[in-house]
Parts: sequence; C-alpha cells; structure tokens
Amino acid sequence: MTDRFQGKTVLVTGGAGGLGRAYALAFAREGAFLILADINEAGLAETKDMVEALGSGASVHRVDMAVEADIEALGRDVLATHARLDVLINNAGLHAGEIARGFFGLGQAKWQHFFAVNTIGPLLLAEALRPALAKAKGVIINKSSMASYNPATAYGITKASLNVLTHAMAQQFGTDDIRCVGIAPGLMATDAALGGVDPENWERLKAMQSVKRQGTADDIANLGLFLASDEGSFVNNQVILCDGGNQMRGFRI
Ligand SMILES: NC(=O)c1ccc[n+]([C@@H]2O[C@H](COP(=O)([O-])OP(=O)(O)OC[C@H]3O[C@@H](n4cnc5c(N)ncnc54)[C@H](O)[C@@H]3O)[C@@H](O)[C@H]2O)c1
Repeated sequence: MTDRFQGKTVLVTGGAGGLGRAYALAFAREGAFLILADINEAGLAETKDMVEALGSGASVHRVDMAVEADIEALGRDVLATHARLDVLINNAGLHAGEIARGFFGLGQAKWQHFFAVNTIGPLLLAEALRPALAKAKGVIINKSSMASYNPATAYGITKASLNVLTHAMAQQFGTDDIRCVGIAPGLMATDAALGGVDPENWERLKAMQSVKRQGTADDIANLGLFLASDEGSFVNNQVILCDGGNQMRGFRI
C-alpha cells in the first residue's frame, strides 16, 4: 500500500456496491477522502463504514443520475464543501435486464432513461463539478464496457456513445487541464454482473478470454488507481479495455 491519494478527494458514482465500492476501498487504502453517490442509500452507508474502517473519511449523497436536478444538487453540495476534486469516477450505470437484451420495442421513454443514466449523466455531473476539477487539475474516469465495441444491445449503444463522449470531454475539459479517460471492463465478478448473465453465458464469455481467470472488481479498481495517479498523468483521451483479452476473440489463431 502507498499513499498516492493522501489529501486528495475522489467522487465515485455507483458507490453503493460492485465496482464502485471496489474503487472506493482502493482509493481509501491510499489515503483519499471519498464522496460516494448512488441511488441506493443502504449500500452507500455500508461502503462508508468500510471506507472509515480503513481509516479514511467519506460522505454519502443520494442521487438519481437520470434526474438533472439531483445531479445539480450533488454538484452544489460538493462545491460547497470541497474546493478541489481530484478524481471523478462516473461509474454508476444500468447494465442488467432489458438494456442488455435485444433493443427492439423498448420505446422512447426507456431509451431516454438508459441514455440519461449511462451517457448523459456522466457529462452533466462533470459539468457541475468543473470548477473543483479544474482547481485540482483533476481527472474524469468514465465507466464504459467491452460491450461498447460490439454494441448489439441498448446497453452497448449507451456505452459506445459514452466512449465518443469521453473523447469529446477530453477535448472540452482539457482547456482546464482536466484529463478524461474511460475504462471498459470485460466480464468482472460483481453481484450485479453475476446475477445478470446466466451461468452458461457466463462460461461462454469467459472462454473467449485469453487470460484464463475470472476478472475481479480489483482488476478495475487497480486500473482506476493508475489512471488517476501521477504515474498515469500522461494518459488522456483514451478508453482502456480491461477484459482479459476477450476482445481479440475472432483474431486468435
Ligand atoms: N461488472 C461487470 O462485468 C461490468 C462490465 C462492464 C462494465 N460495467 C459497468 O461498471 C459499472 C458498475 O457495474 P457493477 O457490476 O458494479 O454493477 P452494480 O449494479 O453493482 O453497480 C451499479 C451502481 O449504479 C447504481 N445506479 C444505478 N442506477 C442509478 C441511478 N439512476 N442513479 C444513481 N446510481 C445508480 C446502482 O445502485 C449500483 O450501485 C456500470 O456502469 C456497468 O455498466 C460492469
């Protein structure tokens, strides 16, 4: 363990569990103060306790990333208490259920909801937090998915759109020395992912990897630590796949 994030402030959306909790604990181990945001208040309280047990501080904020007023209120709360924000991790996302199946017949309201949470919310939150990110010369990490490279579902389409937005954000926020990168996980063992894919499909997807082990939440958290750290400070405008080689499926000999 090092203290690369001592004195730094990190905001994680979707911090109530899964990958968001893994980021929170990884940054807490390295000394960061955590601002945890999610729609799931019980999960937030659990993550806060876990962060504090590691000796770091945390605040919790209920936010529905599909609701602009919630995002603006979160932005105001954070700016009122933190002059600087070093890292914004836009991790909250919808990825199970209808969004991950065929996309016909969803209707406009569902499409708009999926885009609101997975694509537009990350931009609106970054905009709301821009003054504090600029002061810290901070970094925005958007949470994509390997599904963005084969976007045959509404989920994949919202994440592919987020990749494009990540490049645009790197350009637009770059004028304030704020970096913007994306992380595109493969199949990582979180409760939500395990619950959202049937066991047969899970094994089929895992067999496509060239790295023959289960991806873990810590694999993603460790990449987040690197990208947010001084060691990663020359990386910008990139979406980094972390999928055990799943993407090379068709090219293997
Ligand atoms: N686990 C994987 O294999 C995997 C792979 C690729 C990408 N991802 C992405 O990583 C992120 C986290 O995934 P996870 O596996 O930890 O799933 P998860 O369901 O545990 O985490 C998602 C979090 O987002 C929160 N959330 C959902 N809708 C929200 C809303 N409207 N407002 C605020 N918070 C909301 C949930 O409450 C939850 O805590 C998601 O964006 C997902 O698409 C996960």
